Amino acid sequence: MLTKLTIPMPDDWHLHLRSGEMLNKVLPYSSQHFARAIVMPNLPSPVVTTNDAKKYRQEILNNLPEGHDFTPLMTLYMTENTDPEDVHLGFLKDDITAVKLYPAGATTNSDAGVKDLEKIYPVLEVMEQIGMPFLVHGEVVDVDVDIFDREAVFIETKLIPIRQRFPKLKIVFEHLTTKEGVDYVLSCNDNTAATITPHHLVINRNAMLVGGIKPHYYCLPVAKRELHRLALIKAATSGDKRFFLGTDSAPHLTTAKESSCGCAGIFNVANAISVITQVFDNEKALDQLEKFLSINGALFYGKTVNSQHMNLVRSDHALTIPKNIKTSKGVVTAFDPLIDVYWQVV
Ligand code: DOR
Ligand code: ZN
Repeated sequence: MLTKLTIPMPDDWHLHLRSGEMLNKVLPYSSQHFARAIVMPNLPSPVVTTNDAKKYRQEILNNLPEGHDFTPLMTLYMTENTDPEDVHLGFLKDDITAVKLYPAGATTNSDAGVKDLEKIYPVLEVMEQIGMPFLVHGEVVDVDVDIFDREAVFIETKLIPIRQRFPKLKIVFEHLTTKEGVDYVLSCNDNTAATITPHHLVINRNAMLVGGIKPHYYCLPVAKRELHRLALIKAATSGDKRFFLGTDSAPHLTTAKESSCGCAGIFNVANAISVITQVFDNEKALDQLEKFLSINGALFYGKTVNSQHMNLVRSDHALTIPKNIKTSKGVVTAFDPLIDVYWQVV
């Protein structure tokens, strides 16, 4: 049995770091295990211009623990007023890496998002020309569409038309949760890729709803039924270069999740690498692990694979779940994957 692994240092292609004290508390968990991360722009006051992104990047760098080698890759929050010229210049100067679409109302801090996709076509035209990735929260928000169907309906009604209109645009379908999503990505050429989270690889909707409501398993897009989780496992462990890790780690105070209207988001970076390695081990696919964690994302984003390495060891006893994080306003609950995890970063 394989008990030791060395892989190129992983990257996280979808991460919520927040700001202020929360940023300070959660950042070390990312910067210890990842060389780079695509940082989501959905702060309470969203990151909408390159200037905002530069300020936010500086705040992140100011909070980086000594000795951690970590590069935050910044994103802009697409609005109907996003300036194509600002996007173009920000990308050329390497101040921003991608632009993120939140359909207005789809998730946490998405009120300033996009209602009418045609309004952002001028930005997408520029992004297509310069090869800049367009990151998509792929859920429709129509009240009459069931929450479990919102991803599949988004593909049919929004994504396919965008893809037709902008055939060369690099699109990342973020945090894929359905078999329809996997099948869609597989039907596309190399301009379309997708991130997959650790939690969607290990839980289905039962984790959230059976035996009482479990708010710490609530995130958006919401976990679906088992057949979808199995499709995600197959995609992630296949080694196909269109699939790579985006943790979507999204910390909220425990009190904000254990509420009559609890927030969506799972804080998972304290054990993300261990959990994913265990999933690949269970699938007998450890030989594909480095593609999912360290190679496919870098290639899609046109970056070099990290030269630093990470060592993993399989322990003979299951690891304990990481402790909750303390802040002055209360704790953040860390992700419990509900499976035995033996792999540890050393
Ligand atoms: O569960 C989620 N939490 N999904 C998102 O899309 C946003 C995120 C957050 O920012 O809390
Ligand atoms: Zn997210």
